[in-house]
Amino acid sequence: MEPSKLLSMKQLKFQAFVVSENEDGGYLRRLQWKNIEDLPENEVLIAVEYSSLNYKDALSASGNRGVTRRYPHTPGIDAVGRVHTSRVDRFFPGDRVLCMGYDLGMNTPGGFGGYISVPSSWVMALPESLTALEAMQIGTAGFTAAQCVHRLGELGVQAQQGPVLVTGATGGVGSIAVRLLAAQGFEVATVTGKPDQHAFLHEIGAAKVIDRQKFLAGADKLLLRERWAGVVDTVGGDFLATAIKGTRYDGVVTCCGNAASGDLPLSVYPFILRGVVLAGIDSAQCSMARRKAIWGKLSGPWRLPDLAPMCRTVTLDALDPEIDRMLAGGARGRIVVDMRETV
Ligand SMILES: NC(=O)c1ccc[n+]([C@@H]2O[C@H](COP(=O)([O-])OP(=O)(O)OC[C@H]3O[C@@H](n4cnc5c(N)ncnc54)[C@H](OP(=O)(O)O)[C@@H]3O)[C@@H](O)[C@H]2O)c1
Repeated sequence: MEPSKLLSMKQLKFQAFVVSENEDGGYLRRLQWKNIEDLPENEVLIAVEYSSLNYKDALSASGNRGVTRRYPHTPGIDAVGRVHTSRVDRFFPGDRVLCMGYDLGMNTPGGFGGYISVPSSWVMALPESLTALEAMQIGTAGFTAAQCVHRLGELGVQAQQGPVLVTGATGGVGSIAVRLLAAQGFEVATVTGKPDQHAFLHEIGAAKVIDRQKFLAGADKLLLRERWAGVVDTVGGDFLATAIKGTRYDGVVTCCGNAASGDLPLSVYPFILRGVVLAGIDSAQCSMARRKAIWGKLSGPWRLPDLAPMCRTVTLDALDPEIDRMLAGGARGRIVVDMRETV
């Protein structure tokens, strides 16, 4: 790079949402101005236009060492924006790109900063038919929901086989899973802990809404009545176990989250007596080929029109209470973070 350009690059400053550890072991979140040199040296520098809030960000922002080992740290596992500079010939300044998962926002400064610096292998072109805002209305949560629905299809679950259950249904993954399944003609049953959000769930496509406590009745039994042809589980623990126990013969359960618990209190009977399939879903390390295939669906045949009513957009200075709300299980739909004023 020309020396004059290098000098002007070094002068680039941006705002970031930084989480740091207190002397008393607590964690402090605040906005800070950063220099571009604070970022790791990597192949692609991206000016972030939008990020989004995912459960993993809320964990990172509250000092969860399973997600983030070193603080101070800038979370944000999602970012969409324009290439500022690139050291590889696959990307050029001005390209519209998407970066999600891998180590972004975990131990690599993430999308809650005005710029990210990442390996080119983490970056893909933003699908043509999506705006930057739409891509982050979907974000990792929506991508994960799409992976679950895709896997159900791959493993043979079809709409005529019976209802598909979604747990944590008002959350980011859950609500997009409901939309995707309903759009594909599935009868969608949902579990929620929010009595005031039943109308919301019906609006986005749920045929049935089950109260969280009622759903768990019978959680102590080895098997339950066969109800679900498929499951998208985002919460884990007793919810996942109860869903598996109530899954029909040859049914498929996709497991992607642990919002309630990382445990799975279960016997082998649903598997050896009903042939239930438990399929794990990961969006952080999944291959670039699969990312492109799933985003191809989300921007093509599975495109969800008008996600706006189930999303809210906040700026970086309004993110803090959204993180607390999410950690308390109070999220509804998706939170997009508008990063355009941070550089
Ligand atoms: N495998 C992956 O690659 C991947 C990718 C993305 C997300 N995830 C995981 O998926 C989960 C959901 O993520 P998200 O972004 O959708 O989070 P979210 O927006 O916070 O939604 C989680 C929802 O789960 C329900 N919930 C929360 N606490 C609960 C509890 N103690 N017991 C029962 N239900 C509870 C709530 O919905 P209701 O009130 O409607 O029940 C909540 O809105 C998280 O565990 C996240 O880490 C995994």
